[in-house]
Amino acid sequence: MNTRKRLGILTSGGDCPGLNAVIRAVLAHAILTHNWEVVGIPYGSQGLVERQSIPLDAQTLDFRGIDPLLTTGGTILKSINKEYPGEKEDDIIAGYRDLGLDGLIAIGGDGSLAILRQYAQKGGWNLVGVPKTIDNDVALTERSVGFDTAVNTVTEALEKLSFTASSHDRVMVVEVMGRTAGHLALHAGIAGGADAILIPEIPYSIEKVCEKINRVREFLGRHYAIVIVAEGAQTPVGESRTYTDALGEVRLRGIGEYVADQICHVSGKELEARVMVLGHIQRGGAPSAFDRLLATEFGKVAVDLVAQQQHDRMVAWQCGKVTSVSLGDVIAKKTVLVNPNGSLVQTAMAIGTYVGEV
Ligand code: F6P
Repeated sequence: MNTRKRLGILTSGGDCPGLNAVIRAVLAHAILTHNWEVVGIPYGSQGLVERQSIPLDAQTLDFRGIDPLLTTGGTILKSINKEYPGEKEDDIIAGYRDLGLDGLIAIGGDGSLAILRQYAQKGGWNLVGVPKTIDNDVALTERSVGFDTAVNTVTEALEKLSFTASSHDRVMVVEVMGRTAGHLALHAGIAGGADAILIPEIPYSIEKVCEKINRVREFLGRHYAIVIVAEGAQTPVGESRTYTDALGEVRLRGIGEYVADQICHVSGKELEARVMVLGHIQRGGAPSAFDRLLATEFGKVAVDLVAQQQHDRMVAWQCGKVTSVSLGDVIAKKTVLVNPNGSLVQTAMAIGTYVGEV
């Protein structure tokens, strides 16, 4: 009889850099320390419905003599970024048993983890969560895998755009991801030296944005400006900018264009603005050193939790170290937004960056 523990691992929701690094750490620790059998479930819950599993072993950690998972973006296990239809619930729940799993490590954002936890509760799964998202909005963890890399990507983009903005004395409006949270815009905006940072959590006025840009011109003699806008920021009258794609899905996009148009309009065409929607480049690329470190620690501790039979928990980063928290508490707290009175907002304001009407 095979008594080796069989551990499943899946990635769910939007991808981000560092997912493969988590898979690598889970795999290495599970096989080297515990001699467990590890299988990847492709496409998250879809793999459970279809009873698919991919054997992961020592060879997965090597590609022609190089270590591919640490540095490769995306996810080798694939992922779906939509909720699986409700009527599949029983099928998904049964998939865990049919695949002979003794434990499941799910790498996901708050939405995916909430849904998977429901399945786990109903089906008696041994589930451990690992938070990932460039939105950094999962509760009870100060960092999610992928966020640091995305901040670096956006910061680099702001730097690059500042040169072209400078050449033409323009305002560059840069729209970034983050869904309903402004963490990515706020962090990258400060790191990339933006003149204005517009986020969903703080109302703003276009007149004040223009005032700030004019002050930069008058007092600093700098004739370009960078404005970063989170995709979830609303217009001053409280409307989100969205579009409906060919599949009928409503997606956030367009607030950058709105802000750029309004800057031209309110300034009486004195200010010329261009828009850059950074889009999915923010989810691409090799993970930063910090994300590799976080992914590795998260993967290791997730395996420890399974080994200690501490299920229904999520690994978390708090006060500079890895810990674990109750998955139920994470889900109950819902999406974590930027605190308008928090230190980052205060810092931005203190150095003269416009962050809205705090
Ligand atoms: O949650 C991560 C995220 O990148 C959001 O910032 C963004 O709104 C969304 O996913 C985009 O999703 P999709 O890849 O389905 O277009």
